[in-house]
Amino acid sequence: MTVKFAYMDYQSTTPLDERALAAMMPYLTEKFGNPHSAEHRFGWEADAAIDVAREKVAGVIAAKPEAITFLSGATEANNLVIKGVMEHWGAVKPHLITVVTEHKCVLEAAAACERAGYRLTTLTVGSDGLIDLDQLEDAICEDTALVSVMAANNEIGVIQPLANIGAICRERGALFHTDAAQAYGKIPIDVEAMNIDFMSISAHKIYGPIGVGALYRRQSKDTAIAAQMHGGGQEGGMRAGTQAPALVAGFGKAADLCAAEMAQEQGRLVTMMKRIVGDLGSAAPGMKINGHTDMRWTGNLNVCFPGLDGDRLFADIRGLAVSSGAACASAVAGPSYVLDAIGLSVRDAKASLRLGIGRFTTDEEIDFAIGKISEAVFKQGGCT
Ligand SMILES: Cc1ncc(COP(=O)(O)O)c(C=O)c1O
Repeated sequence: MTVKFAYMDYQSTTPLDERALAAMMPYLTEKFGNPHSAEHRFGWEADAAIDVAREKVAGVIAAKPEAITFLSGATEANNLVIKGVMEHWGAVKPHLITVVTEHKCVLEAAAACERAGYRLTTLTVGSDGLIDLDQLEDAICEDTALVSVMAANNEIGVIQPLANIGAICRERGALFHTDAAQAYGKIPIDVEAMNIDFMSISAHKIYGPIGVGALYRRQSKDTAIAAQMHGGGQEGGMRAGTQAPALVAGFGKAADLCAAEMAQEQGRLVTMMKRIVGDLGSAAPGMKINGHTDMRWTGNLNVCFPGLDGDRLFADIRGLAVSSGAACASAVAGPSYVLDAIGLSVRDAKASLRLGIGRFTTDEEIDFAIGKISEAVFKQGGCT
């Protein structure tokens, strides 16, 4: 079957898996209770669904269910942990470390902390997108409360060495947070083995619904944080507000499916991605992969076609839903700050594309994408 459209923007969001939708439906219809209604069956049913989901979400990262706080998504989790740690520990440990290529919600939460009077160090990355572990070690001081380094980058897919970072932070007495919105459920992560104290998770990046996510917090008095949402004391006082049973149930099912199908899915994506890289590389021999070529999430490819006009390239691949080298996360669509941080010129950043494939990507869609991009490159006389 020939396709006329292909969705290759899986880092932006993933389609809802119909098995997750099926898990949500009862809590949108007959089991509509408020999970905090402790006096009757409707409340108990909804509450039980949340318990089940909490176990599933925790299981993916070998965590205890009570370490999971449900909230609206990774943006909220990142804000809660960064502001919450600094508010709780900042009087004695006023220093925060993060990285220049983090998602905007981490960078903006960190900037808010800096405006509130805390000291902020922003680490740079190499041309491969990875942080330098020596630079991290040097940056951690006695008064460093938190180190926030993302797991997999949303633009270039680069995976940071989480276990090494965790070991350094634990040894130096700093808490370690990772924004794992793009990694959770896709690559194996063990929070205990990797010394991860906090992790941000988003359901809509793992074929669950948009509008729900979680913060993992290692259970210890050392990881106490100040809540940022006050109210009825839900989620153990960490996040007030009525929980959303349908969203949480869908998230739990999506997490469970990721755990069950991780190895098989990864294998499929590796094969597909090899074909994309090989065929695009033949059509455009000057093509360059942005970021580390191996330490990356296999469902992401960010490529630059040097010498090409990015606006024309993008206009010529209509029908292919991909992201450009513009900073899509920001309201202002300038060239990407992530591509800038790994050393790309404005022109090369604009001549870059992010292709994201995932669970529902078909061979026909890949043929379509390769055809469209190759044609667009050819139209401009190839890349240099
Ligand atoms: C790395 C990363 N962090 C945070 C977020 C924000 O997640 P959410 O949409 O759940 O707020 C995203 C989503 O684009 C992301 O890719």
